[in-house]
Amino acid sequence: MSESRRKFLTLATGAIAGIGAVLASLPFVKSMNPPKHIKQMTWDIEFTKLRPGQMMVHVVESKPIFITFRTKEDLDGLDIDNNKLKDPNSEESDQPELSNNKYRSIKPEIFVAEGLCTHLGCSPTHVNNDQDFLPPKAAGGYFCPCHGAVYDSAGRVLEGGPAPRNLKVPVYEFIEDRKIRMSRS
Ligand code: FES
Repeated sequence: MSESRRKFLTLATGAIAGIGAVLASLPFVKSMNPPKHIKQMTWDIEFTKLRPGQMMVHVVESKPIFITFRTKEDLDGLDIDNNKLKDPNSEESDQPELSNNKYRSIKPEIFVAEGLCTHLGCSPTHVNNDQDFLPPKAAGGYFCPCHGAVYDSAGRVLEGGPAPRNLKVPVYEFIEDRKIRMSRS
């Protein structure tokens, strides 16, 4: 075999191997994109008519979403004795990064949570501060009528009831002053 033919064959073999490597990687690259049937889902919820002390319920994918306009008393009432709460700092509970704070919300006055009790999934009721089952200082919260779990106004569950964790906070962002966009992927 001549020298020039040997060089040609060496180059051709390398080129074919390179093309093979690129082709082999294509399914992998494709698999890193989400499949077409899994789309980013978003839901916009407007609550311009909500007033301090009120809660509205919006249903998203069959789940009730609570949006509560907390009063100053609600926010001050979050300083209840930590010993009365199962998970005061929400370390074992479910909330996205932006709500990972004392208020469990992006804006302190607006609390957004899934309205499903973390015991067996009943929907709690929003209660005001005249309920004697709330601890002193707690201004308001949520009461589950099924087996008596009580949550404070940040959805933190009180000791003594059957619910193991705080109410779940969904992923959301504010797109207007009184409008949020919830999402999941
Ligand atoms: Fe709420 Fe049991 S489902 S306390």
